[in-house]
Amino acid sequence: MIEPATMADTTSRNIGPIILLGAPGAGKGTQAKRIAERYGIPQISTGDILRDNVQRGTELGLQAKAIMARGELVPDHLVCDMVAARLRQADCARGFILDGFPRTPAQAGWLDTFFQRELFEKGDGAKPLPIVMRIDVDYNQLLKRLTGRRTCVANGHIYNIYFQPPRVADVCDVDGSQLVIRNDDREEVIRERLKAYDQQTRPVAEYYQQKGRLVSVNGDLPADQVGEQVVREIESHAAAATDGS
Ligand code: AP5
Ligand code: MG
Repeated sequence: MIEPATMADTTSRNIGPIILLGAPGAGKGTQAKRIAERYGIPQISTGDILRDNVQRGTELGLQAKAIMARGELVPDHLVCDMVAARLRQADCARGFILDGFPRTPAQAGWLDTFFQRELFEKGDGAKPLPIVMRIDVDYNQLLKRLTGRRTCVANGHIYNIYFQPPRVADVCDVDGSQLVIRNDDREEVIRERLKAYDQQTRPVAEYYQQKGRLVSVNGDLPADQVGEQVVREIESHAAAATDGS
């Protein structure tokens, strides 16, 4: 059992970047929200930011809308510019969780350069190296998770009609808002998203593995148990960083 975080954890620790990799439906968003709450650092979901842009009809949203509806990846330069702007915000100073980024080897290379330039060369105190975790989930389980997902319209709280049902059908437990099916959780789009993952995102894990920076967690377990593995990995990474400094 993982102990709840103390106030000291959430207010003062320098956690650094946490990168969550995993197929569509692996549980990146579910775990990112837990980490964000435990350590008081922001969840940066490129999918959520893009969906918000689509909904608001921004220039970026207009460029991304049709691509996302097909289940394909938005071009690297658009996503990297968007992530750079977000990472420069003040709430990322103690750490942040990247959920769904990087998703191509080009994005991973870009991120390493960005970290080098903007995090490590600024010289204002110790900066923990990123921890890269891949959540591994069986293919058939992914399909069930995606078709069963429901998301709250107000704040993006995540449910599943099979595994994590809300107390009242179609209503968010936390804020009472309506639960909806995500536009790209239709079977034909899910197939394309899984294909994009296989072809373009699997090599990202290999990129980090070759650098000896990839940690895998068993995502087939219930969310609480996956969360325990995730916290254990973050804590041992933080301990190793402290020992090495
Ligand atoms: P994005 O929003 O990132 O979608 P995704 O990668 O397909 O991942 P999901 O959000 O579907 O799954 P998740 O891993 O977050 O799982 P969740 O926690 O919700 O991207 C959407 C689109 O945006 C892309 O297709 C692309 O077009 C574009 N995009 C985004 N980033 C991009 C980038 N970097 N470059 C280019 N394009 C980009 O869980 C899923 C379900 O399972 C839920 O119902 C949940 O309740 C349930 N669940 C979770 N954990 C468990 C568990 N342990 N046991 C049982 N059920 C569980
Ligand atoms: Mg997600």
